[in-house]
Amino acid sequence: MKSWKMMCWAVAAALIIGTGVSAQDGAEIFKKNCTACHKIGARLVGPDLTGVTEKRSDEWLRKFIRSSSSLIKAGDPDAVAIFNEFNGTPMLEFQFSDAELTAVLGYLSGFGAQAAKTDTAAAAKAAEPALVFTDADVEQGRAIFQHSMSAGGPACVTCHNVSDAGLIPGGLLAKDLTHVAGRIGDQGIVGILGAPPFPAMAAAYNGSAALTEKEVHAITAFLVHADKNTAATAEVGGKNTMLIWGFGGLVVILLGVALTWARRLKRSVRHDIDARQLRTI
Ligand code: HEC
Ligand code: HEC
Repeated sequence: MKSWKMMCWAVAAALIIGTGVSAQDGAEIFKKNCTACHKIGARLVGPDLTGVTEKRSDEWLRKFIRSSSSLIKAGDPDAVAIFNEFNGTPMLEFQFSDAELTAVLGYLSGFGAQAAKTDTAAAAKAAEPALVFTDADVEQGRAIFQHSMSAGGPACVTCHNVSDAGLIPGGLLAKDLTHVAGRIGDQGIVGILGAPPFPAMAAAYNGSAALTEKEVHAITAFLVHADKNTAATAEVGGKNTMLIWGFGGLVVILLGVALTWARRLKRSVRHDIDARQLRTI
């Protein structure tokens, strides 16, 4: 009996402590949830968040972080503009409490526009030595991109296309990656592959199916190469291509269904019944 009471108290205490989010946790929340796509002082998958608390209102930021898609759907001009600027890459939605939002926004407000120009950008640069890619890395990356991973994850071409000589045409389930290196930089790719922030990719390379460091390096080399060596017009995977492929897929499925049915009708129940009835006569 006594131990039950103790346990209840322990749980209650843990809950109380758990909800007391301090500003210090803002950095932790940001690191855990946002750094795969955002960086202070540089553009990654998402925009550079330096000075964002000065650019946008507190209310707007809270709404955007909880559900950017709702703001976009409602036609908020700022949300729509930034969504289009980032080629329609969706941001994830975060079910944060008010306290957690206050903490993470407090953390972000520490990086004002002034800080950006001086130490933040410089520090970000200094912290990351430039990656070096050899031709062998590019070759290896091209091969890895179209084969399943050493740990069993699916090939990137299952979902992505890259327009590059010597590569089979890839899937159009997700964005075309021909010029992704130009868009988010080599460090951005390494960041995404290290901890994919997109649910579909996270599921594919989860836990024991995680990519190895070598695979990440080679694939990044290949994507940097593709970006530099493919004309900008070669990129496929626009909304229209997706539609065409989606439509093509539908036609194939319908054909399959039609064929199955046609065969069924020929060797149908009727035939069996006839045969059986003939036998009973
Ligand atoms: C999956 C990648 C991804 C993750 C994870 C992510 N974001 Fe974003 N974020 C984006 C993209 C892309 C945009 C550009 C707008 C759009 O496409 O909707 C954006 C835009 C924003 C903006 C608007 C910037 C502006 O200039 O108005 C804010 C603020 C923001 N994100 C904060 C956060 C915070 C805080 C987190 C973590 C809790 C986070 N984001 C996590 C991808 C991401
Ligand atoms: C199961 C499908 C799937 C597989 C497999 C997959 N991805 Fe993705 N990937 C996605 C989705 C979904 C997104 C989110 C953006 C979009 O909708 O295209 C994404 C986004 C990305 C982005 C960010 C694109 C941008 O413009 O911001 C990169 C880089 C990327 N993937 C690289 C890879 C690489 C490299 C591999 C192979 C190791 C891979 N992906 C395998 C589904 C997949």
